[in-house]
Amino acid sequence: MNLCEENTLTATARQRIFSGVQPTGNIHLGNYLGAFRNWVELQDSFETIYCIVDLHAMTVDYEPGKLEAARIDTARILLALGVDPERSLLYTQSQVPGHAELAWILGTMTPMGVLNRMTQFKDKTEMGSSPNLGLYSYPVLMAADILLYRANLVPIGDDQRQHMEMTRDLAERFNNRFGDVFPIPEGYFPEVSSRVMSLTEPHNKMSKSDPQIKSRVAILDDPDVIRKRIRSAVTDSDPEVRYDIDQKPGISNLLEIMAACTRRSVDDLVEEHANGGYGAFKDAVADAVVEELAPFKTAYKALNNGDVRQVLHDAGVEARDMASSYMREVHKVIGVKRY
Ligand code: TYM
Repeated sequence: MNLCEENTLTATARQRIFSGVQPTGNIHLGNYLGAFRNWVELQDSFETIYCIVDLHAMTVDYEPGKLEAARIDTARILLALGVDPERSLLYTQSQVPGHAELAWILGTMTPMGVLNRMTQFKDKTEMGSSPNLGLYSYPVLMAADILLYRANLVPIGDDQRQHMEMTRDLAERFNNRFGDVFPIPEGYFPEVSSRVMSLTEPHNKMSKSDPQIKSRVAILDDPDVIRKRIRSAVTDSDPEVRYDIDQKPGISNLLEIMAACTRRSVDDLVEEHANGGYGAFKDAVADAVVEELAPFKTAYKALNNGDVRQVLHDAGVEARDMASSYMREVHKVIGVKRY
């Protein structure tokens, strides 16, 4: 596994994994290298629960008619990447009422000062999203997702660190007040590529919502499209291939992408490509990405939406039962008796 030692040590002592993805389309290389590859690998050793967080996706403008297609397609991509319904629960958030209910309870102990510091709300509203309460309290729902199942580890990309910290903080607040109910969960990050950057603006992260299609490689892009995207990636005018985030963010990003895809170290790749020129280096990066992603398109085509729906249905039923018994315990400690 391409994981740092700290992660590996923590992981061996832990039991349950939870993570989520918004069904907002355009799933890209950053989602895969930052999170989904770990989702798949962690299935070997842990109990794994993966959620398509459709309630989160409603916090920004969305079209109701497109949501269902996006939920199914997101699930289909995850199955193609190797999420295995025999070993993992893969379901949609709205199937399980406990997410929203726990979010309300946690919201009663979330200081507004903490939410005011969350960068995602500022970023999204600056970019034109309406400043609604759902978007503002988004991190509380995310904390509820994780704590609902008493998860120990959460495989995510670097952009979710702040939300993860808040989740830990809320778990501690709850436990201090009501007793030891929630384990304090930890984020689980890949060693490289925990923050894959945009190919057109390498100071920004690669994003599903970037209107510039050239900024990302989509998981299902054809090989010739992938090559085109990588070849046109913004770099700099100095011809040396070297890792330097400040001076050479574009090249450093490509080095991380290639290191993750080939499972080689950045140092190794620098040694090999330092003086070979950007053209040859970009071709090598493109080859590595094509090789990594090619099998997924074949697997995606082999699936059908009816089977995907069945997976979501079955896992949703199981997740709802599990969540319901955990919520009973929460109700008990907060003093809300069920009649
Ligand atoms: P989302 O849907 O934006 O992204 C899914 C996962 O992909 C990671 N990711 C990246 N990793 C590396 N480089 C990038 N450029 C990049 N872009 C995205 C994200 O970190 C994420 O792991 N808030 C979450 C969804 C969520 C969730 C949860 C996650 C809701 N509840 C509970 C974990 C646990 C989100 O918007 O992910």
